[in-house]
Amino acid sequence: MYLITGATGHVGRELVEQLLAVGADVRAVSRRPPAAHLSDRVDVVPTADSAPALRGVSAVFLNATAIGLFTDVGTAKDRLQTFLGQAASHGVHRIVLLSSSSVLDDTNPVGRHHRELERQVQHRGLEWILLRPGIFNCNTLDWAEDIRSRGVVCAPFGSARMAPVDERDIAAVAAQALLCDSTHRLVGSAPVLSGPEVLTPADQARIISKAIGVSLRFEELAPEKAHRALVEAGAPLWAADGLLRYYAKAVTHPVAISPAVAQITGTPPRTFANWVMDRAAAFRRPTRTRPAGSTATPTAP
Ligand SMILES: NC(=O)c1ccc[n+]([C@@H]2O[C@H](COP(=O)([O-])OP(=O)(O)OC[C@H]3O[C@@H](n4cnc5c(N)ncnc54)[C@H](OP(=O)(O)O)[C@@H]3O)[C@@H](O)[C@H]2O)c1
Repeated sequence: MYLITGATGHVGRELVEQLLAVGADVRAVSRRPPAAHLSDRVDVVPTADSAPALRGVSAVFLNATAIGLFTDVGTAKDRLQTFLGQAASHGVHRIVLLSSSSVLDDTNPVGRHHRELERQVQHRGLEWILLRPGIFNCNTLDWAEDIRSRGVVCAPFGSARMAPVDERDIAAVAAQALLCDSTHRLVGSAPVLSGPEVLTPADQARIISKAIGVSLRFEELAPEKAHRALVEAGAPLWAADGLLRYYAKAVTHPVAISPAVAQITGTPPRTFANWVMDRAAAFRRPTRTRPAGSTATPTAP
Protein backbone atom coordinates (compact mmCIF):
# COMPACT_ATOMS: atom_id res chain seq x y z
CA MET A 1 0.00 0.00 0.00
CA TYR A 2 1.29 3.46 -0.94
CA LEU A 3 0.25 6.56 1.00
CA ILE A 4 0.10 9.72 -1.12
CA THR A 5 -0.05 13.10 0.61
CA GLY A 6 -1.14 16.16 -1.40
CA ALA A 7 -3.12 13.67 -3.48
CA THR A 8 -5.50 16.25 -4.94
CA GLY A 9 -2.62 18.49 -6.00
CA HIS A 10 -0.82 18.98 -9.27
CA VAL A 11 1.65 16.16 -8.77
CA GLY A 12 -0.35 14.00 -6.35
CA ARG A 13 -3.41 13.51 -8.57
CA GLU A 14 -1.22 12.40 -11.49
CA LEU A 15 0.75 10.11 -9.20
CA VAL A 16 -2.40 8.42 -7.89
CA GLU A 17 -3.56 7.75 -11.47
CA GLN A 18 -0.18 6.38 -12.52
CA LEU A 19 0.01 4.04 -9.51
CA LEU A 20 -3.54 2.78 -10.12
CA ALA A 21 -2.63 2.16 -13.77
CA VAL A 22 0.02 -0.36 -12.70
CA GLY A 23 -2.33 -2.04 -10.22
CA ALA A 24 -0.84 -0.60 -7.02
CA ASP A 25 -2.91 -0.15 -3.86
CA VAL A 26 -3.23 3.52 -3.07
CA ARG A 27 -4.32 5.44 0.01
CA ALA A 28 -4.63 9.18 -0.50
CA VAL A 29 -4.64 12.06 1.94
CA SER A 30 -7.04 14.95 1.45
CA ARG A 31 -8.33 17.29 4.14
CA ARG A 32 -11.82 16.90 2.66
CA PRO A 33 -12.18 13.34 1.39
CA PRO A 34 -15.69 13.84 -0.09
CA ALA A 35 -14.38 16.69 -2.26
CA ALA A 36 -11.22 14.88 -3.38
CA HIS A 37 -12.76 13.41 -6.56
CA LEU A 38 -10.31 10.55 -6.74
CA SER A 39 -11.01 7.10 -8.16
CA ASP A 40 -13.31 4.79 -6.19
CA ARG A 41 -10.34 2.43 -6.02
CA VAL A 42 -8.52 4.84 -3.71
CA ASP A 43 -8.93 4.83 0.05
CA VAL A 44 -9.06 8.55 0.98
CA VAL A 45 -8.17 9.62 4.54
CA PRO A 46 -8.21 13.13 6.06
CA THR A 47 -4.76 13.02 7.71
CA ALA A 48 -1.52 11.14 7.16
CA ASP A 49 -0.46 10.81 10.80
CA SER A 50 -2.96 8.28 12.12
CA ALA A 51 -3.06 4.52 12.47
CA PRO A 52 -5.83 4.14 9.84
CA ALA A 53 -3.73 6.12 7.35
CA LEU A 54 -0.48 4.27 8.02
CA ARG A 55 -1.73 0.70 8.47
CA GLY A 56 -0.17 -1.60 5.86
CA VAL A 57 1.73 1.23 4.14
CA SER A 58 5.16 0.39 2.74
CA ALA A 59 6.11 3.75 1.23
CA VAL A 60 4.89 7.34 1.49
CA PHE A 61 4.93 10.23 -0.96
CA LEU A 62 5.33 13.41 1.07
CA ASN A 63 4.34 16.80 -0.27
CA ALA A 64 5.59 19.72 1.88
CA THR A 65 2.49 21.78 1.05
CA ALA A 66 0.31 19.07 2.52
CA ILE A 67 2.22 19.10 5.79
CA GLY A 68 1.57 22.85 5.97
CA LEU A 69 5.00 24.24 5.02
CA PHE A 70 3.45 27.31 3.41
CA THR A 71 1.11 27.91 6.35
CA ASP A 72 3.51 27.70 9.29
CA VAL A 73 7.10 26.56 8.75
CA GLY A 74 7.83 25.69 12.40
CA THR A 75 4.68 23.64 12.83
CA ALA A 76 5.30 21.84 9.53
CA LYS A 77 8.79 20.80 10.65
CA ASP A 78 7.44 19.53 14.00
CA ARG A 79 4.64 17.70 12.20
CA LEU A 80 7.11 16.06 9.85
CA GLN A 81 9.21 14.88 12.79
CA THR A 82 6.18 13.34 14.48
CA PHE A 83 4.93 11.86 11.23
CA LEU A 84 8.26 10.20 10.45
CA GLY A 85 8.30 8.61 13.91
CA GLN A 86 4.76 7.28 13.46
CA ALA A 87 5.50 6.07 9.95
CA ALA A 88 8.56 4.14 11.17
CA SER A 89 6.60 2.59 14.03
CA HIS A 90 3.88 1.43 11.59
CA GLY A 91 6.44 -0.35 9.40
CA VAL A 92 6.77 2.22 6.59
CA HIS A 93 10.18 1.62 5.05
CA ARG A 94 10.51 4.38 2.45
CA ILE A 95 9.79 8.11 2.17
CA VAL A 96 9.73 9.87 -1.20
CA LEU A 97 9.86 13.61 -0.56
CA LEU A 98 8.73 16.16 -3.12
CA SER A 99 11.38 18.80 -2.52
CA SER A 100 12.63 21.53 -4.86
CA SER A 101 15.68 22.34 -6.97
CA SER A 102 15.88 25.59 -5.00
CA VAL A 103 17.72 23.58 -2.31
CA LEU A 104 20.76 23.93 -4.57
CA ASP A 105 20.85 27.66 -3.77
CA ASP A 106 21.46 28.13 -0.07
CA THR A 107 20.64 31.84 -0.33
CA ASN A 108 17.07 30.96 -1.34
CA PRO A 109 14.67 30.81 1.65
CA VAL A 110 12.39 28.28 -0.09
CA GLY A 111 15.46 26.15 -0.71
CA ARG A 112 16.58 26.44 2.90
CA HIS A 113 13.21 25.28 4.26
CA HIS A 114 13.01 22.39 1.81
CA ARG A 115 16.60 21.41 2.66
CA GLU A 116 15.67 21.18 6.35
CA LEU A 117 12.77 18.87 5.49
CA GLU A 118 15.13 16.82 3.34
CA ARG A 119 17.53 16.44 6.26
CA GLN A 120 14.74 15.30 8.57
CA VAL A 121 13.78 12.64 6.04
CA GLN A 122 17.40 11.60 5.47
CA HIS A 123 18.12 11.17 9.17
CA ARG A 124 15.15 9.04 10.18
CA GLY A 125 16.73 5.69 9.33
CA LEU A 126 14.20 4.90 6.57
CA GLU A 127 14.95 4.58 2.88
CA TRP A 128 14.61 7.97 1.24
CA ILE A 129 14.41 9.52 -2.21
CA LEU A 130 14.36 13.31 -2.58
CA LEU A 131 12.79 14.70 -5.75
CA ARG A 132 14.06 18.16 -6.65
CA PRO A 133 11.99 19.61 -9.48
CA GLY A 134 12.42 23.10 -10.90
CA ILE A 135 9.50 25.36 -11.86
CA PHE A 136 6.31 23.45 -12.74
CA ASN A 137 4.49 24.00 -16.04
CA CYS A 138 1.25 24.41 -14.13
CA ASN A 139 2.47 27.67 -12.57
CA THR A 140 1.41 29.28 -15.86
CA LEU A 141 -2.21 28.51 -14.93
CA ASP A 142 -1.88 31.64 -12.77
CA TRP A 143 -1.84 33.55 -16.06
CA ALA A 144 -5.05 31.99 -17.33
CA GLU A 145 -7.50 34.60 -16.09
CA ASP A 146 -5.56 37.53 -17.62
CA ILE A 147 -5.13 35.60 -20.85
CA ARG A 148 -8.85 34.84 -21.11
CA SER A 149 -10.05 38.29 -20.08
CA ARG A 150 -7.41 40.64 -21.55
CA GLY A 151 -5.14 38.66 -23.86
CA VAL A 152 -2.19 39.58 -21.64
CA VAL A 153 0.47 37.63 -19.80
CA CYS A 154 1.69 39.56 -16.76
CA ALA A 155 4.83 38.10 -15.23
CA PRO A 156 8.10 39.28 -13.71
CA PHE A 157 11.52 38.51 -15.19
CA GLY A 158 10.32 37.79 -18.74
CA SER A 159 13.86 36.85 -19.76
CA ALA A 160 14.51 34.34 -16.93
CA ARG A 161 15.78 31.17 -18.61
CA MET A 162 14.23 28.20 -16.83
CA ALA A 163 13.55 24.57 -17.70
CA PRO A 164 9.92 24.12 -16.61
CA VAL A 165 8.84 20.57 -15.88
CA ASP A 166 5.54 18.77 -16.50
CA GLU A 167 3.78 17.59 -13.32
CA ARG A 168 3.06 14.27 -15.09
CA ASP A 169 6.80 13.69 -15.46
CA ILE A 170 7.40 14.49 -11.78
CA ALA A 171 4.63 12.01 -10.95
CA ALA A 172 6.20 9.38 -13.22
CA VAL A 173 9.50 9.74 -11.37
CA ALA A 174 7.68 9.62 -8.03
CA ALA A 175 5.90 6.42 -9.09
CA GLN A 176 9.25 4.79 -9.91
CA ALA A 177 10.63 6.03 -6.59
CA LEU A 178 7.77 4.38 -4.69
CA LEU A 179 7.71 1.15 -6.70
CA CYS A 180 11.40 0.34 -7.20
CA ASP A 181 13.09 -2.22 -4.98
CA SER A 182 15.53 -1.35 -2.22
CA THR A 183 18.62 -2.12 -4.30
CA HIS A 184 17.63 0.36 -7.03
CA ARG A 185 20.05 3.26 -7.52
CA LEU A 186 17.20 5.74 -7.01
CA VAL A 187 17.12 4.85 -3.31
CA GLY A 188 19.24 7.35 -1.38
CA SER A 189 19.39 9.74 -4.35
CA ALA A 190 18.13 13.29 -4.95
CA PRO A 191 17.47 13.75 -8.67
CA VAL A 192 16.91 17.26 -10.02
CA LEU A 193 13.95 17.21 -12.41
CA SER A 194 13.53 19.55 -15.36
CA GLY A 195 11.73 19.75 -18.64
CA PRO A 196 13.55 19.17 -21.96
CA GLU A 197 14.11 22.81 -22.96
CA VAL A 198 15.18 26.16 -21.59
CA LEU A 199 12.31 28.63 -21.88
CA THR A 200 11.65 32.14 -20.61
CA PRO A 201 8.22 33.26 -19.39
CA ALA A 202 7.99 35.25 -22.64
CA ASP A 203 8.67 32.02 -24.62
CA GLN A 204 5.97 30.25 -22.61
CA ALA A 205 3.52 33.05 -23.42
CA ARG A 206 4.32 32.64 -27.15
CA ILE A 207 3.74 28.88 -26.95
CA ILE A 208 0.38 29.39 -25.23
CA SER A 209 -0.55 32.03 -27.82
CA LYS A 210 0.21 29.63 -30.68
CA ALA A 211 -1.70 26.77 -29.03
CA ILE A 212 -4.89 28.77 -28.49
CA GLY A 213 -4.60 30.77 -31.72
CA VAL A 214 -4.87 34.10 -29.91
CA SER A 215 -2.27 36.82 -30.03
CA LEU A 216 -1.06 37.61 -26.50
CA ARG A 217 0.85 40.59 -25.20
CA PHE A 218 3.63 39.99 -22.65
CA GLU A 219 3.66 42.62 -19.94
CA GLU A 220 6.70 42.51 -17.68
CA LEU A 221 5.61 42.94 -14.09
CA ALA A 222 7.91 44.86 -11.72
CA PRO A 223 9.37 42.42 -9.16
CA GLU A 224 7.90 44.44 -6.25
CA LYS A 225 4.43 44.22 -7.81
CA ALA A 226 4.81 40.49 -8.38
CA HIS A 227 5.99 40.09 -4.78
CA ARG A 228 2.97 42.02 -3.46
CA ALA A 229 0.59 39.95 -5.59
CA LEU A 230 2.05 36.69 -4.26
CA VAL A 231 1.73 37.85 -0.65
CA GLU A 232 -1.81 39.13 -1.25
CA ALA A 233 -2.65 35.71 -2.69
CA GLY A 234 -1.55 34.13 0.61
CA ALA A 235 2.12 33.24 0.09
CA PRO A 236 4.35 33.78 3.14
CA LEU A 237 6.96 36.53 2.68
CA TRP A 238 9.82 34.00 2.55
CA ALA A 239 8.05 32.03 -0.22
CA ALA A 240 7.47 35.15 -2.32
CA ASP A 241 11.13 36.17 -1.74
CA GLY A 242 12.32 32.70 -2.74
CA LEU A 243 10.28 32.48 -5.93
CA LEU A 244 11.38 35.90 -7.14
CA ARG A 245 14.98 35.14 -6.23
CA TYR A 246 14.75 31.97 -8.35
CA TYR A 247 13.46 33.95 -11.36
CA ALA A 248 16.01 36.76 -10.90
CA LYS A 249 18.89 34.31 -10.75
CA ALA A 250 17.67 32.57 -13.91
CA VAL A 251 18.08 35.82 -15.88
CA THR A 252 21.87 35.66 -15.51
CA HIS A 253 22.28 31.93 -14.74
CA PRO A 254 20.04 29.84 -16.98
CA VAL A 255 18.61 26.74 -15.33
CA ALA A 256 20.37 23.61 -16.59
CA ILE A 257 18.42 20.84 -18.31
CA SER A 258 18.56 17.65 -16.24
CA PRO A 259 18.68 14.19 -17.85
CA ALA A 260 16.96 12.64 -14.78
CA VAL A 261 13.37 12.26 -16.03
CA ALA A 262 14.48 10.31 -19.11
CA GLN A 263 17.02 8.27 -17.15
CA ILE A 264 14.53 7.28 -14.46
CA THR A 265 11.35 6.78 -16.49
CA GLY A 266 12.91 5.70 -19.80
CA THR A 267 10.84 8.38 -21.58
CA PRO A 268 11.98 11.90 -22.48
CA PRO A 269 10.29 14.66 -20.48
CA ARG A 270 7.29 16.28 -22.12
CA THR A 271 7.69 19.68 -23.78
CA PHE A 272 5.85 22.76 -22.55
CA ALA A 273 3.98 22.81 -25.87
CA ASN A 274 2.69 19.31 -25.13
CA TRP A 275 1.51 20.42 -21.68
CA VAL A 276 -0.25 23.46 -23.18
CA MET A 277 -2.05 21.34 -25.79
CA ASP A 278 -3.54 19.29 -22.96
CA ARG A 279 -4.46 22.36 -20.91
CA ALA A 280 -5.46 24.75 -23.70
CA ALA A 281 -9.06 24.95 -22.46
CA ALA A 282 -7.88 26.72 -19.33
CA PHE A 283 -6.45 29.57 -21.45
CA ARG A 284 -9.29 29.88 -23.96
CA ARG A 285 -12.30 32.09 -23.54
CA PRO A 286 -15.30 29.82 -23.07
CA THR A 287 -17.43 29.73 -26.20
CA ARG A 288 -21.13 30.00 -25.57
CA THR A 289 -23.15 27.30 -27.26
CA ARG A 290 -26.67 27.85 -28.49
CA PRO A 291 -29.40 25.61 -27.15
CA ALA A 292 -30.41 23.01 -29.77
CA GLY A 293 -32.93 24.44 -32.24
CA SER A 294 -32.29 28.04 -31.20
CA THR A 295 -31.61 30.60 -33.92
CA ALA A 296 -31.34 33.59 -31.62
CA THR A 297 -28.00 35.35 -31.34
CA PRO A 298 -26.70 34.90 -27.79
CA THR A 299 -26.70 38.14 -25.82
CA ALA A 300 -23.86 39.39 -23.67
CA PRO A 301 -24.16 38.38 -19.98
N1 LIG B 1 5.14 24.94 -8.27
C1 LIG B 1 6.44 24.89 -8.52
O1 LIG B 1 6.96 25.49 -9.47
C2 LIG B 1 7.33 24.05 -7.63
C3 LIG B 1 8.66 23.87 -7.97
C4 LIG B 1 9.47 23.07 -7.15
C5 LIG B 1 8.94 22.49 -6.01
N2 LIG B 1 7.63 22.71 -5.71
C6 LIG B 1 7.11 22.11 -4.47
O2 LIG B 1 6.05 21.22 -4.80
C7 LIG B 1 5.09 21.27 -3.75
C8 LIG B 1 3.72 21.57 -4.33
O3 LIG B 1 3.28 20.46 -5.10
P1 LIG B 1 1.83 20.47 -5.81
O4 LIG B 1 1.77 21.65 -6.72
O5 LIG B 1 1.59 19.11 -6.34
O6 LIG B 1 0.91 20.70 -4.54
P2 LIG B 1 -0.40 21.56 -4.49
O7 LIG B 1 -1.20 21.22 -5.68
O8 LIG B 1 -0.08 23.00 -4.23
O9 LIG B 1 -1.06 21.04 -3.12
C9 LIG B 1 -1.25 19.67 -2.88
C10 LIG B 1 -2.41 19.48 -1.93
O10 LIG B 1 -2.03 19.82 -0.60
C11 LIG B 1 -3.20 20.13 0.15
N3 LIG B 1 -2.93 21.37 0.89
C12 LIG B 1 -2.80 22.62 0.39
N4 LIG B 1 -2.53 23.50 1.37
C13 LIG B 1 -2.49 22.78 2.52
C14 LIG B 1 -2.26 23.11 3.89
N5 LIG B 1 -2.03 24.36 4.27
N6 LIG B 1 -2.29 22.11 4.81
C15 LIG B 1 -2.53 20.84 4.44
N7 LIG B 1 -2.76 20.47 3.15
C16 LIG B 1 -2.73 21.43 2.21
C17 LIG B 1 -4.35 20.28 -0.85
O11 LIG B 1 -5.10 19.06 -0.79
P3 LIG B 1 -6.51 18.93 -0.01
O12 LIG B 1 -7.21 20.25 -0.14
O13 LIG B 1 -7.18 17.81 -0.74
O14 LIG B 1 -6.14 18.58 1.39
C18 LIG B 1 -3.63 20.33 -2.19
O15 LIG B 1 -4.37 19.79 -3.26
C19 LIG B 1 5.56 22.33 -2.75
O16 LIG B 1 6.26 21.73 -1.70
C20 LIG B 1 6.49 23.17 -3.56
O17 LIG B 1 7.48 23.84 -2.82
C21 LIG B 1 6.81 23.45 -6.48
